[in-house]
Amino acid sequence: MKPEEDICVCHHVSLNKLKNFIKRENPEVPSQLSECLGAGTSCGWCIPFLKKIHGCHVRGQSMDLTVSFENYAERRKQHNMKKSIKKADDPT
Ligand code: FES
Repeated sequence: MKPEEDICVCHHVSLNKLKNFIKRENPEVPSQLSECLGAGTSCGWCIPFLKKIHGCHVRGQSMDLTVSFENYAERRKQHNMKKSIKKADDPT
């Protein structure tokens, strides 16, 4: 993914914003990335990727994702469609 592309599509939080937040705040746990403009607090699709970026930071590795944004966004769309179908099938 390119630095300007959104990791958290719901809240429009780009990889660059997350990298800057991590460098500035040095979060101890991945959940603290939610303090960066609400990343990960809506559909939840980006949470594994937020964890991956945080893990790279902790290990001193480059915080990059090799997936293309198009593929990432398409997989998120499918994930959210499955979630809506599941919710519609749930009688409770
Ligand atoms: S993509 Fe981050 S919460 Fe939906």
